[in-house]
Amino acid sequence: MKKFVTVLLAVSVLASLVGCGKKSSLDKDTLVMATNAEFPPYEYYEGDEIIGIDAEIAQAICDELGKELKIEDMAFDSIVTAVSSGKADFGAAGMTVTEDRKKNVLFTDTYAQASQVVIVKEGSDIATPDDLAGKTIGVQLGTTGDIYVSDVEGATVERYNKGFEAVQSLLTDKIDAVVIDQEPAKVFVQENEGLVILEEHFTDEEYAIAVAKDNDELQKAINEALAKLKESGKLDEIVAKYITAE
Ligand code: ARG
Repeated sequence: MKKFVTVLLAVSVLASLVGCGKKSSLDKDTLVMATNAEFPPYEYYEGDEIIGIDAEIAQAICDELGKELKIEDMAFDSIVTAVSSGKADFGAAGMTVTEDRKKNVLFTDTYAQASQVVIVKEGSDIATPDDLAGKTIGVQLGTTGDIYVSDVEGATVERYNKGFEAVQSLLTDKIDAVVIDQEPAKVFVQENEGLVILEEHFTDEEYAIAVAKDNDELQKAINEALAKLKESGKLDEIVAKYITAE
């Protein structure tokens, strides 16, 4: 009998240890979202508040899950580490699903189609992405734009902390083009005279939310919430609020 109790005790201690190692955000009241709020219309500041498509999707997901949402702004290339180290529960930042990022985080189902596009000054000799060879190209550090432009033959890549800073450099002729996601590109071009977006996309991609590798419970919960938001039309409603159809 004594032996049996000892074994039972050992098993339960082991089980609780295993349980401790597994991080589930679902035990918490507040979920922390890591983002980089330099990316209109997905996340940007209005006064002190971070608003945008990702902020609203995250709020809707938290509402579904009965959680409070706390948004933390950081450099884009810190988000994956913040999520994988457990500093943040999830990352929502117009983040493209890539094989490389999948080595460090889990992605939820995708919630948006996206593309990298090329912004040039009106009258530029760059007419298609192929013309980028040998040019000086601005990107936001650590983004897919940065990753893919680094493969362009003979190109010089200028990396900025904010996409907007790359656009500023283009306006002052320090660089020849900016490669950035389509929706922020549209916002930047609208806000500044003399810029155009090339018709041909540089790449096509998809956005998803990132969670830690051992946080598959949260991944599942977010996927369920996302499915509901897609089905109810709430997701489209949020997108339509920020992106007007052409
Ligand atoms: N979609 C690109 C990527 O995943 C850029 C995302 C930048 N997002 C941001 N919030 N600054 O690399």
